Amino acid sequence: MGARIAKSTSMPGRLSVVVHADAERLASAVAAFVAKEARRSIEAHGRFAVALAGGTTPKRAYELLSLPPLVTLVPWEGVHLFWTDERCVGSDDPRSNERMAREAFLDRVPIPPDQVHPMRCGAGGGQDGVEGGLTAEQAARRSADEYESLLRRLFAEADGVGAFGLPYAEGPAGAALDLVVLGLGADGHTASLFPGSQALTDGGRWAAPVFVRTAAADRAAGADAAGAGAAGEDLWRVTLTAPFINMAASVLFVVSGPAKAPIVTEVLEGPIDAGRLPAQLIRPRTGMVRWYLDEASAALLQREGEGATNP
Ligand code: 6PG
Repeated sequence: MGARIAKSTSMPGRLSVVVHADAERLASAVAAFVAKEARRSIEAHGRFAVALAGGTTPKRAYELLSLPPLVTLVPWEGVHLFWTDERCVGSDDPRSNERMAREAFLDRVPIPPDQVHPMRCGAGGGQDGVEGGLTAEQAARRSADEYESLLRRLFAEADGVGAFGLPYAEGPAGAALDLVVLGLGADGHTASLFPGSQALTDGGRWAAPVFVRTAAADRAAGADAAGAGAAGEDLWRVTLTAPFINMAASVLFVVSGPAKAPIVTEVLEGPIDAGRLPAQLIRPRTGMVRWYLDEASAALLQREGEGATNP
């Protein structure tokens, strides 16, 4: 069964929604899209700067990038890898988004190490290069500032030419990142932009520290609420901000499973309420937003005609 084009009503801007039959076909489509975007970007302007989501949904797609046929299609030497957000734990902690990416594909593809930019924000006492003796908050704030400086150096040097040699203002459609891959939490968060978070209003920043409190009810239930970390644990995180994500040439949301069907419908077809639904903040100035869903997560969307190909 080919993917079908769904209809989205309330989100303005250049947006398309493609629904894939199941989670495996969704993962295949995501991996193929990332590989194609990598080739296109590198052929067009010599680099592919991509920020990857954490969580669990995209892991299978990342695995497929490290397997034939895609692994030989991607010009890995031109890839510059960033993260959309990170939990402030050690990089070998099972909750780490960096660890998930390394296990899924990064340890098996030849991206030059100095082109891989993890957000190291654990307060591990010298671990991961984080200065020892910091509190969790100090480590998160230190890491967010360092990531901010990295992004400014690469995408917006004072003279208007980023270290990529591209006058970032004149880069592809004035873009910074070529692609941002995002997930969607059941509460409407994306990256670590959680409802009501101060990071939503850090207007001037490109990377921000954020403290994610596990809801008391979820703590009681032992649930890992909103991806905050281990069950019942509040956690510092570092996240790209919406203004920086909206400087991307292309954004791809990847959402799977029946548990996400209500929030997908609320974000795409409900009223705009970005403070409560931060995923609605993601509207690139000139870039395109694609939503790749599976039938389970798209189950409550209004249906439109069948589409033979993915845009
Ligand atoms: C994280 C992610 C986060 C994630 C959503 C969906 O650090 O948890 O970056 O934004 O994409 O919470 O997570 P799942 O894919 O696990 O449902």
